[in-house]
Amino acid sequence: MRAAWNRLSAAYQGRHDLPTDSAHYGPWAPPENELRILGDVQGLHILELGCGGGQCTIAFAKQGAHAAGIDLSDAQLDYARRLAKAEQVEVDFFQGTAEDLSAFATAAWDVVFSTYAFHYVENIGRCLGECARVLRPGGRLVFSLDHPFRDCFLDEEEDEVTIYPARSYFDDRPVQWVFDTTGVRLQSYHHTIAQWLELLSNAGFRLARLLEPCPPKEVLDAIWPEDDPLSPLRHVPLTIIFVAEKT
Ligand SMILES: C[S@@+](CC[C@H](N)C(=O)[O-])C[C@H]1O[C@@H](n2cnc3c(N)ncnc32)[C@H](O)[C@@H]1O
Repeated sequence: MRAAWNRLSAAYQGRHDLPTDSAHYGPWAPPENELRILGDVQGLHILELGCGGGQCTIAFAKQGAHAAGIDLSDAQLDYARRLAKAEQVEVDFFQGTAEDLSAFATAAWDVVFSTYAFHYVENIGRCLGECARVLRPGGRLVFSLDHPFRDCFLDEEEDEVTIYPARSYFDDRPVQWVFDTTGVRLQSYHHTIAQWLELLSNAGFRLARLLEPCPPKEVLDAIWPEDDPLSPLRHVPLTIIFVAEKT
């Protein structure tokens, strides 16, 4: 996974051109400054897992948070450090896996945040246990992913979208797929909503909110215009956001 993201980083950053004025929840969701899930982050200690190019960590720091990010990929972190320097923002970036947060003290963080990274984490139970450990009591874990329903309509192995379910909602075998035209193979892990709730509860979290934001109309128009044969897929949720509180 580390080698794959090192190879992918330049293509990923070139394709997405992510903002640093607000944290985001992925390519099909409105950003934090519209959803207002976290609200005012001034003075909060926020740790971002799978921070990639660091855009969300930097956005939090710009808004007055004490922010740090961890990612598996050296290339993603090189990009993040260059970006933080260019934006003149003080943030710490660490190389490592979200399954092992031993670099961070217990109960030291108000928020653990992650956008579109948890589905790459093989041992997600261990990762959520580590999130609970580093959060203070009442601290929040906020993370976004592809909605499990979206996974059913995208055959990642063939990079094809289909109007009929391509994959069972209940199929939790890892999925192997190629990122765009890069030829780089990735593996991701998919869980049903009920499995996510169970995983969170087992790790010591209480679900505070579950969001399925409707993608902005211009995003849907770009992917599946109204006259496209695949336009019924406009009705499928694309992103899911979990907000959980450490009990
Ligand atoms: C789709 S990118 C998202 C990056 C960033 N959150 C964003 O929104 O642009 C997924 C990121 O997760 C990282 N990643 C994958 N597996 C990881 C793991 N086990 N621990 C930490 N980071 C991981 C990858 O290196 C990559 O930067």
